[in-house]
Order: sequence, then structure tokens, then C-alpha cells
Amino acid sequence: MIKKKRPANARTGPATCWPALLCLLALWLGWGWNGAQAQSLPLSSSGPASGVSLSSSSSSSPVPPSSGGGSLQVLHWWTSASERQAINVVVNQLAKQDIQWRDVAIPGGAGMGAAKVLKSMVLANRAPEVTQLNGVVFGEWADLGLLLELDNVAVQGAWEKQMFPTVWSLLNNHGHVVAAPLGIHRINSLFYNTAIFKRYNLSPPKTWDDFDQIVKKLQGSGITPLAQSAEAWQLATLFENLALAESGPAYYRRLFVEMSPAAYLDARMLHILKRLRGLSAAMAQPVRERPWTEVARSMVSGEAAMLIMGDWAKGELNAWGMEVDQQFGCAPVPGTGDFHLYSTDTLAMFAGNYAHQAVQETLARLTMSPAVQSEYNRIKGSIPVLRAADPHMDRCARDSWRAFSKGPAWQAPSLVHRMATDDTTKDAIVSEVQRFFLDRSISEEQTQKRLAAIARTLSRNRND
Ligand code: BGC
Repeated sequence: MIKKKRPANARTGPATCWPALLCLLALWLGWGWNGAQAQSLPLSSSGPASGVSLSSSSSSSPVPPSSGGGSLQVLHWWTSASERQAINVVVNQLAKQDIQWRDVAIPGGAGMGAAKVLKSMVLANRAPEVTQLNGVVFGEWADLGLLLELDNVAVQGAWEKQMFPTVWSLLNNHGHVVAAPLGIHRINSLFYNTAIFKRYNLSPPKTWDDFDQIVKKLQGSGITPLAQSAEAWQLATLFENLALAESGPAYYRRLFVEMSPAAYLDARMLHILKRLRGLSAAMAQPVRERPWTEVARSMVSGEAAMLIMGDWAKGELNAWGMEVDQQFGCAPVPGTGDFHLYSTDTLAMFAGNYAHQAVQETLARLTMSPAVQSEYNRIKGSIPVLRAADPHMDRCARDSWRAFSKGPAWQAPSLVHRMATDDTTKDAIVSEVQRFFLDRSISEEQTQKRLAAIARTLSRNRND
């Protein structure tokens, strides 16, 4: 049953705006905020990544017709070379239907900045028409009645039949589809510099013991074994990977989905924290806060041998002219080969006064077109959300697809990328992990207790 859409004059968001916030937003979106911080620009087929077009192999699948005309303001955090090229696949398809994509790009890996700007915009009654909004978080916006339901588009496009069940259930909020999917990233990805691996006769590490052996072999070589940033979300990426490697998806879910205090107090958590701290011996000291693109650069330049990062890093290396199994290789993070630590990219549409509904629905329809899915994900480094395997996938993408296709028992929703829990809980854990990693005076036992306390408090609040 498709629920009736809200009436065209339905009001969303608070009735009054906060003047201070509005001022801030005016600054952010208009004056004084330079391009290095954010851009609110129309992107068109002649935009920065022009030249990106659907390849002939995929353009044979027609993109569905639209309502034609209009524009959409889109908030997102896709600001690196490959990210921009990937979204330009969508931008160009919209342009063909005479729809302009107005860009609000908020830099900051994993959307740490974008999430804050989005909240401020919504509070100021200035929600964008579309936003990159990953994971369970859009359920919160949907519960407030702020998101456009895309049920008609989903039914017409047979989304449920076509996409992986995990993605389908993620998009659903109380029986209504509230976001349109772009792709699935694998967060348990390890990239390595093939020249270094060849020179030192190394193989991709399958276990953490293998990893330790590589670190040993590289000792005294002047090469940093593991490229790493001290940014909170990048440190927490190691943490969630170690949690998955420790005991598989069931324990992982107890930690990050169920937020079980007992799971945090388990001896396995102590082991994870010890391993995390121990990894600093494989990193260049001091570990500095650097954007993920810089960290990826240090791996391919030969400064470092390995990188643990979501597979958007593969997209970026491709955009820099490097190829899988040539300049760099990919493998699952040690101990996680059977599993898929996933994050999906999705676009949610703010309902506003429904004036943009037809154009928003066109965008939603377009994201699920097989041609867009194939081309976008090839550039982005991710895999399509469609169950049918895309023949254009490279080796890393095929591995990712195989692992994800095994089903929920093998999948783990990324904490860092908002797949597992709400933003407040996620932020509390992520900053606790960063504090622990950077401050050696905090013991593993103290952190374990603090994490259990966070779980106790926040899971209790959730049930209130
Ligand atoms: C997003 C990716 C993005 C990455 C780096 C993730 O949260 O899902 O699309 O490339 O962050 O910013």
C-alpha cells in the first residue's frame, strides 16, 4: 500500500527561523566562505568534471524520462577528484533532462562537517531539496516528517526486486521508501603499493599476524608500513575493522547496533583496543590529522606501503591515473576476508512544500537506472546496489560484490558511516576512540569502561 503524499501546502520544519543561524548560513552559503570550504554553485555538464559521460557500453540502457525542467539544491561531501567525477555522471544525466544540480559541497571526509551544516540548515528552515544522507540517520529525519516518500518511484522501478535486500530495508522507514541509493562501499579494504610489495617480496596480509610480519620486514627500510591520519573518523575506521576481525559480524552488531554494555566489557574489546594502540608502531610519528586523499597519496607515492580505507580510495587512485593490480593492489582488511563492512551512499529528498517533488522523483528514478549505477560506481570505487552483477566491475569490486551477496550474516554496517546507529552515539564512540589513540595515559581498561558507559547511557535513552 502506498501512503498518500502529504498535501502540497504541508509545512515542514519549525515555523520560525533562528536569526543567528541564518546569519551563519548566509556566510556559509554566500559571502566570505571561500571555495576551499564550501561551494554553492550550479554544476552542469560543463562543470569541473565535464567530459564525464556514460560510456557507450552502459549508455545503451536508457535513463527513464522525466518531468523535465527545474533545479535542485544538493548538499553533499563529495569533493575529491573521483567523487566529483562520479556525481557528474548524475549531474550530466539531470542536465539532459533540463534539470540543474545546484551544488552545496561541504568538504570533510565521512561527512563530519556536512552533517552539522545539514542540521543547521534544517533548523533554519532552509533545508536543501536533496541531501547525501547515509544510513540509519535518515530514519530520524523521516520520523519528523521531513523527507519525501519515494514509494511511487520505487514501485514503478521495481526497486525491491532489483536491489540487495539489505539496501532495500535501509531505504525503508516504517514501510516507506525515504531515500534513493547510489552505491555500496566496502570499508574493510586494504590497499597496498605493488612496487613495494614486489621489492620486499610481500603478499597481502590475510591475518593480523601476517600484517605484523610485513611491519617487521619493512623495519629500517624508511617505508612507513601503514598510512594513517589522526582524524577521528579515520582512526575509528581502524577500530571498526578490528572489531569485525576480532569476532565476526555477530559480535560487531552487539557492539555497534545493539550497543550492548556487556559486549564492551567483554575481553575481546580489550584485545581490540590493544591491537589498535599497537598499530601506531606501523605509522609515521607523530600521526597527524590529514584528509583521506593525502593519506592515500602517501601510499601510492611509496612513502607508505599500505592503507586501510573505504574503497572510495580506489576510485580516487583511478582518478589519479593508477590502476588496480598495477600501481596498487586491494585485499580485505586482515581477518575480515569473509565479511563485508559496508556503507551505502544515498540521496534523501526534503519534502518542503512539494514544489520540487516531480524533479526530486526524477533524480530518484535516475539513480536506479542500470546505466547510472554502473558508471557512477565504476568511478566512485563502490559497487551498484543492484543484485545483478555488473559486468564492468574490476577485481576489487567483484570481490566486494561477492562478499556482499552472501547476505546479512556476512555483512557488518559501518559505525563510522552511520549505518549502525544514530549520530550522537556514533560521535561519542568515535571521539572516545580518538582520545584513547592519541593519549597514551588513558589505559585500555579505562576506555573499555567509558565505551560501556556510553553504550549504557545511549541505549537507555534510545528506549526511553
Ligand atoms: C561516503 C563516501 C565518501 C567518503 C569520503 C563516506 O561516508 O559514503 O561516498 O567518498 O565518505 O568522504
